[in-house]
Amino acid sequence: MQQTTTLQIAHTVSETRAALREMRRRGLTIALVPTMGALHEGHLSLVRAARTASDAVVVSIFVNPTQFGPDEDFAKYPRTFEADCAALEREGVDLVFAPAAEEMYPPGASTFVDVDGVSERLDGASRPGHFRGVATVVAKLFHIVQPDKAFFGQKDAAQVAVLRKMVRDLNFGLELVVCPIVREPDGLAMSSRNRYLSLEERRQALALNRALREVERLAAEGVTPAQKLIATAEAVLAGEPAVRVDYLHAVNPDTLEDVADTRNGALIAVAAFVGATRLIDNLLLPGKPR
Ligand code: PAF
Repeated sequence: MQQTTTLQIAHTVSETRAALREMRRRGLTIALVPTMGALHEGHLSLVRAARTASDAVVVSIFVNPTQFGPDEDFAKYPRTFEADCAALEREGVDLVFAPAAEEMYPPGASTFVDVDGVSERLDGASRPGHFRGVATVVAKLFHIVQPDKAFFGQKDAAQVAVLRKMVRDLNFGLELVVCPIVREPDGLAMSSRNRYLSLEERRQALALNRALREVERLAAEGVTPAQKLIATAEAVLAGEPAVRVDYLHAVNPDTLEDVADTRNGALIAVAAFVGATRLIDNLLLPGKPR
């Protein structure tokens, strides 16, 4: 176990459990913020929310191989461990759990968590097996840390739907807290993958947020048919031909099934390739009071 002034860094499950036993002995409530590192202000907003809501904050840093497809960016995913730990120490985090792949998946590991249905929609449709990997690693983190609360970002709205269902279906005794999307000053949703973008792609990527803001404007005017809202977003995205839409849907935020009308609330979710980089963004439309 490494220890800086206030931050403990554990690389094994047993070190992590020992540190947590000590926190629980002191009667502390524990929050977990699962991450894959390459931390940005979006992650730090989760850490701050966790800090406010709990006595002790644990952040996991693990680029989880099982949630990447064979042609995806696992190998090149940014790994910035030293800088991440420095940022987490500044935020007053108590413990970082940063396991190696063999620690999380010992040879022969063959148990996975499948959240059927919801895992096959949105990103799950485009990235087969992705949510199996996410649900499995998050279930393992929940078992290892046994937090009172776990914090996730609304930017990964489909992930939130999958994990909410997993928590309910498998009776995890914790509260899942979802924090708002954090955006750059020009509206681009923060993502560890934004650092892949060239200057020109960074500009093109703004079309995602522009499309969602246009939907928001129409919704505020009282437009509720999903088809109209989606057509509007499509038109905005078509104005930036370098942006290749992967999906654009109005869905029920819990089931991720398409909705025909948004008057009872909906998630407008978009994924698009800008160059080789796949970005996601979304807008949660509240239901109208009846
Ligand atoms: O959202 C992420 O960064 C990852 O999917 C998560 C939840 C840390 C699981 O690897």
